Formats: sequence, C-alpha cells, structure tokens
Amino acid sequence: MFHAAVVTVSDRSFSGQRPDSAGPLVAELLQEAGYQVVKTAVVPDERPQIEQILREIADAGSVQLLLTTGGTGFAPRDVTPEATLSVCDRLTPGIPEAMRYASMAITPRAMLSRAQAGIRGGTLIVNLPGSPRAARENLEAVLPALAHGLEMLSGRPADCAAEFQAQP
Ligand code: MTE
Repeated sequence: MFHAAVVTVSDRSFSGQRPDSAGPLVAELLQEAGYQVVKTAVVPDERPQIEQILREIADAGSVQLLLTTGGTGFAPRDVTPEATLSVCDRLTPGIPEAMRYASMAITPRAMLSRAQAGIRGGTLIVNLPGSPRAARENLEAVLPALAHGLEMLSGRPADCAAEFQAQP
C-alpha cells in the first residue's frame, strides 16, 4: 500500500475564513483507491511556505505521493506550480498534460490550470486545482496510472508490458 499526503494551498482556508473542502475530498478519493493518507496540511498561497511543506513532507521519506490542491490558476497569488517546480528534481509533464486533456472534455476552463507535477527524491508531487469538483475531475483522470509510476519510483519491479486494465 502506498502512503500519501494532501496539502491544501489556500489563503482563505489557512485563515479559517472558509473550511477546507477540497483537501478532505482528495484524501477520501485516495483512501477509496487504496492509499493510506498519513499527512494533511493547509498552507497559505505563499511560495516559501508551500516550498517548505513540500520539502518537509517529501524529505521525511514516508509518502510516495503528495497531492496539492489549489493555487494553480491565474490569480496573482496562485504560485503552487512555481513552488512545486522549484522543489522537484525531475518533472513528470505527462501527468498535468493528461489532467488537462481529460478536463478539456468537461470545460474549456481546464486550460486555465497551470498545474505541474514532478519528483522529489522518492515522492511524486502532483498539483490539483482548488475547487472540490475540479480537484476530483483532475485526480480521477490520472489516478488509474499513478500506482505503476509509484512502483517504478520506489524501485519495485514493475512490468510496463503488462496490459493496463481500465476501471469500468
Ligand atoms: N478542471 C476541471 N476538470 N474542472 C474544472 O472545473 N476549473 C478550471 C481549471 N481546471 C476546472 C478545471 C479553472 S476555472 C481554473 S481557474 C483552474 O483549474 C485553476 O484552479 P485553481 O486556481 O483553483 O487551482
């Protein structure tokens, strides 16, 4: 079983102005998919704080997957992608490409997500948008393929030739 963390990036949730609904939803979706969510956090839209929590969680070495939700749009304080890029050693562009590709079938506004994904050490970091609906739609687009990547990342033997069984 893979261990996961969920970080909500939101000024309003951090200050208590609005309850965090996307973070708990993302955690629930991960648990339903068989992940153990061992850490959750809420941080404001401040690049140093986002970078710090991403580094802290990844470098603790206890989670293979770290999902963020929020701060991927065009608002001046939306800096989650930049914080993510600056802490990752290697980028995984196929993941945000797949999220936007699948999301474009739902809304043309999908192109407004600047989400990034990449690897820091043994942790895959993936940005999701901030609204619960958008976070769910983006996560569902990539979740079926993530475990295979995480197996490779953790050095477990993973058979790329094995046929992928799509969920009904
Ligand atoms: N993707 C999906 N699947 N569904 C959505 O409703 N909303 C878009 C986009 N991606 C959306 C989506 C919108 S309106 C924005 S502004 C961006 O995600 C960024 O969202 P964020 O600023 O909350 O991170």
